[in-house]
Amino acid sequence: MIVDELAARRRSVRGFRPDPVPAATLEAIFAAAQRAPSWCNVQPWRVSVTAPAKTTALAEALVAAARGGLPTPDLPFPLDYPSPYAEHRRACGGALYGAMGIPREDKASRYDAWLRNYALFDAPHLAVVACDRRLGPYALVDVGVWLGALLLAATEQGVDSCAMASVAAYPAVLRAHLPIAETDAILFGVVLGYEDPAVPANAARTTRAPLAANVTFVE
Ligand SMILES: Cc1cc2nc3c(=O)[nH]c(=O)nc-3n(C[C@H](O)[C@H](O)[C@H](O)COP(=O)(O)O)c2cc1C
Repeated sequence: MIVDELAARRRSVRGFRPDPVPAATLEAIFAAAQRAPSWCNVQPWRVSVTAPAKTTALAEALVAAARGGLPTPDLPFPLDYPSPYAEHRRACGGALYGAMGIPREDKASRYDAWLRNYALFDAPHLAVVACDRRLGPYALVDVGVWLGALLLAATEQGVDSCAMASVAAYPAVLRAHLPIAETDAILFGVVLGYEDPAVPANAARTTRAPLAANVTFVE
């Protein structure tokens, strides 16, 4: 498939069937992303990919952490979204909670929906992605480039996904289960598997601003 078709087809999936992704398919996805470019080809992404039993154990531990403790991410989460980002964020939340039929004032249902992040949306696999802290912000750019390649490679293989910064909120839980050095900052997770179309959240669709909002062609 060509890249614009893959980009149009890819979307975040937030409810998965239990079926695992075959090992050869997982390997093909990560092998494709491994071709991503990076500054001086330093290839700074450090990734742990879980099999279903480990994913379940992590999901249980993350839900317990999310219920019980404050987030302590390795890198600070954004606190403030100035315009136009606040509007984009609100539209994204509106699409998601709208698909789930949860009104703004229903705090209990919103809390349960938020916890679904930590249950990893029942996905069979979680990739936890980290980066050596010593490399500085451009290495984070490299990992973002890698993530884009990974998400499109998953789409090419018919595998659904959702990038998840939420799981980076509880790094101690991830380090207790996975070989992640303290010298690496945990950036985000990516859940991988096959969509359960019966999950209401999966009906959510996001839009994009017109090109001119982000890109200026200068004569
Ligand atoms: C770095 C990153 C972190 C994200 N973290 C989360 C998350 O924690 N939970 C979630 O449900 N979606 C998360 N998303 C998915 C975004 O909400 C989603 O990509 C965006 O709304 C656009 O929708 P689409 O992916 O369906 O096109 C994340 C995406 C990225 C790229």
